Amino acid sequence: MSDTTQAPPAPTTSTTPTAPKAKGTGTLAAGDGARHARIWGVGAYRPERVVPNTELVERIDSSDQWIRERSGIISRRMAAKDETVVDMSEHAARQALDVAGVTASQIGAIITATVTHPYQTPAAAPMLADRLGIQCAAFDISAACAGYCYAISLANDMVRGGSAEYVLVIGVEKLSDFTDYDDRGSAFIFGDGAGAAVVGPSDTPGIGPTIWGSDGAQWQAISQREPWTDIRDTDKKWPAIGMAGQTVFRWAVWGMAPVAQQAIDKAGITINDLDAFIPHQANMRIIDAMIKQLKLPADIPVARDIAETANTSAASVPLATERMIREKQIPSGGLALQIGFGAGLVYAAQVIVIP
Ligand SMILES: CC(C)(COP(=O)(O)OP(=O)(O)OC[C@H]1O[C@@H](n2cnc3c(N)ncnc32)[C@H](O)[C@@H]1OP(=O)(O)O)[C@@H](O)C(=O)NCCC(=O)NCCS
Repeated sequence: MSDTTQAPPAPTTSTTPTAPKAKGTGTLAAGDGARHARIWGVGAYRPERVVPNTELVERIDSSDQWIRERSGIISRRMAAKDETVVDMSEHAARQALDVAGVTASQIGAIITATVTHPYQTPAAAPMLADRLGIQCAAFDISAACAGYCYAISLANDMVRGGSAEYVLVIGVEKLSDFTDYDDRGSAFIFGDGAGAAVVGPSDTPGIGPTIWGSDGAQWQAISQREPWTDIRDTDKKWPAIGMAGQTVFRWAVWGMAPVAQQAIDKAGITINDLDAFIPHQANMRIIDAMIKQLKLPADIPVARDIAETANTSAASVPLATERMIREKQIPSGGLALQIGFGAGLVYAAQVIVIP
């Protein structure tokens, strides 16, 4: 009877590499982060120029009334031609630092969430660090309208993990550079702006568990129309951001309320404990549908910054937060449910303590 478990014969040549032995059994020191983290201050920057619907309707054969009824948008801000993502970020960052009472030198890392920084490389965050006179860790993330909530989750983990004491989170977009103003489906949706948050150590939990995820099979639902490499040597048009409006609408309306509910559950609270609901400002009808599905009590304030700001992608949640705080709609120390969702498709939601 043959032995089928027998090992194969050893190789006859000595060319097979063997891994070197580790030097010892040393144990690394663990990072010593804070037990908890929270947002200490938010800042906002809204470009000066207000663009009402009436300025856009002629090119897309639309009307102010149609845009208001279908999206809730009345006007948006548009950055000046020479105003950059870094310029807008700097304004928002300085305000957030000021409100938080934190100096730039205390910032250990900057995360900039954006999809409209026009350089493929380098990232916007190191340029912002330089503007602030610091040389901390600095990087960008691309998670579109979920970018700010993604970055808040990262910052929370970084503060608790000990890789930075304070993290500056930016959500910023100059979408006017990537909007096709002849496209009926998207010309009226987007706006420009920047929001910022300072995340740092806290004695009590200030950022609840993040519920996040992606559905990459639907990547074409919102995307830059052509990759850079396709337009490089052709006469294809500037690759603006295109959108399958109804697909995105349905995904947001049916898919995002359960995500928001999970964030509430994971935070160990109930919906009645909330002091604010700050959803991504994509469309007023999406916001209303989420309120209905979540059965949000009528007395809980809801962000509706979209009316005057439109959809500013990564900047939308921090801009809406800053407005609610400034207008004294929500209490410092209260609980806010925030959720971002968009191109990817990607989403992230968490409950935070309002700074
Ligand atoms: C873009 C959006 C406002 C369009 O609204 P909608 O109700 O889905 O519109 P539809 O595409 O179904 O079009 C409905 C009708 O309006 C017309 N229409 C489309 N765009 C129009 C415009 N800009 N102005 C006037 N009419 C328009 C269509 O031709 C159609 O007419 P018909 O019924 O005679 O065929 C909506 O789909 C939306 O907000 N989607 C999500 C967008 C979003 O959130 N994007 C960012 C995600 S992060």
